[in-house]
Amino acid sequence: MNERTCLAIILAAGQGTRMKSALPKVLHTIGGLTLVGHVATRMAAISDAKLALVIGKGQELIADAVRKISPTASVHIQDEQHGTAHAVLAARSAIEEGYDDILVVFGDTPFVTDETIARLRAGIAEGAAVTVAGMEPDDPAAYGRMITDGDDLLAIREFRDASASEREITLCNGGLMAIDGTVALELLTQIGNDNDQNEYYLPVVVEVAVKAGHSAGWVAVEEAEILGINDRAQLADAESRFQTARRQQALADGVGMIAPETVYFSHDTQLAADVMIEANVIFAPGVRVEAGAIIRAFSHLEGAAVATGAIVGPFARLRPGAKIGPKARVGNFSEVKNADVGPGAKVNHLSYVGDATIGARANIGAGTITCNYDGYAKYRTIIGEGAFIGSNSALIAPVTVGKGAYIASGSVITGDVSDDALAIGRGRQVEKPGRARTMRERAGQKKQARN
Ligand code: UD1
Ligand code: MG
Repeated sequence: MNERTCLAIILAAGQGTRMKSALPKVLHTIGGLTLVGHVATRMAAISDAKLALVIGKGQELIADAVRKISPTASVHIQDEQHGTAHAVLAARSAIEEGYDDILVVFGDTPFVTDETIARLRAGIAEGAAVTVAGMEPDDPAAYGRMITDGDDLLAIREFRDASASEREITLCNGGLMAIDGTVALELLTQIGNDNDQNEYYLPVVVEVAVKAGHSAGWVAVEEAEILGINDRAQLADAESRFQTARRQQALADGVGMIAPETVYFSHDTQLAADVMIEANVIFAPGVRVEAGAIIRAFSHLEGAAVATGAIVGPFARLRPGAKIGPKARVGNFSEVKNADVGPGAKVNHLSYVGDATIGARANIGAGTITCNYDGYAKYRTIIGEGAFIGSNSALIAPVTVGKGAYIASGSVITGDVSDDALAIGRGRQVEKPGRARTMRERAGQKKQARN
């Protein structure tokens, strides 16, 4: 636990025009969580940090995404985007509350680690006025260049303002920094906009601090941790890095995968050891799978819990609220939504089970549909333990099928069925002896007459 107090300012204003999207850049997702959600999660993990979020006008959706993670985050509007230092000063009222450390992080830099944050803060605790995370990217491109003297950081030059020799520098500004809270406002308000874009650049705080007789430091961080996402290609690259890391983590945790490169995780996917996953499985947000369960190929799971020993798929879809009990089965082309499938129950083929409770060991025959929606409201279907639902039955909810009851195949069940009863809801079969032959003969004669 850090004794020092900390304000983490997340900069997220602006649309991020290079995304070419109606959605603000930081609301695009990696592993099913928004970019700004990833950053807020990391910042909220610093137990003593207060969060401040800077957004543009009309970007309340960004505030919602952050408040979901940190309800106490303060939200500050930067009316017009005049640069990263200008953005930090939009959170001036939060800085004025007085903190030992001011952290500035970008909403488009989702992979920052707690360790880097701790190192930046340690630099401030040891006397630096500013500490900055630096990286040596494969392609330094248009990143700001860091001018250093050993461990001392002297200045950061934006690429477009850098001289030819400064552009040769390979150490780049990762955008993440800590500032001594006791001098932060004094330094930030001295930053001018005398540059190529007439913007107030946050990295200029380094030069301002050094000129005022303070020291500034830097910590080296892997590019993968602080890469900023500015366009769709960088977003896709970040998603792929995230997936690779999650697959490796799952394998290390004892999850079995025959083709890990085809399995997609969400930020919050929870898989126990000895879960087995076949190829081409997608875990959308909110999925938990217990030990010994098998997820077969081409299944899509979202907001679902799968208990130990259950088998899901191939080609199954679990939607939010699906709870698959121990040793239960959900097979090919079955969909389960907002429903409990009891221990050992089977929904093996081509069924829709929505807003339902299925008792232990019940068998849901192929093609069974719970008709849960009348176009206006949703209704529940309750199926008792050990019940047998014959193939191609339609259960018109609200409806209850008792324990051990038996529904004849092809039934349309509109009323409750008692325990151990047999219910048949279909037209009775009629048989006409020899009639098929008569029909054939007549048809043959007609055809001959025509020729
Ligand atoms: C910034 C750094 C650069 C660094 C790079 C690392 C500056 C001036 N440059 O450049 O040195 O190498 O990050 O990724 O800081 N934002 C606002 N309001 C503004 C401007 C920006 O909130 O007025 C937010 C953006 O939403 C974004 C973040 O600040 O989340 C960074 O802005 P961006 O335009 O991406 O800066 P870069 O050009 O990447
Ligand atoms: Mg950027």
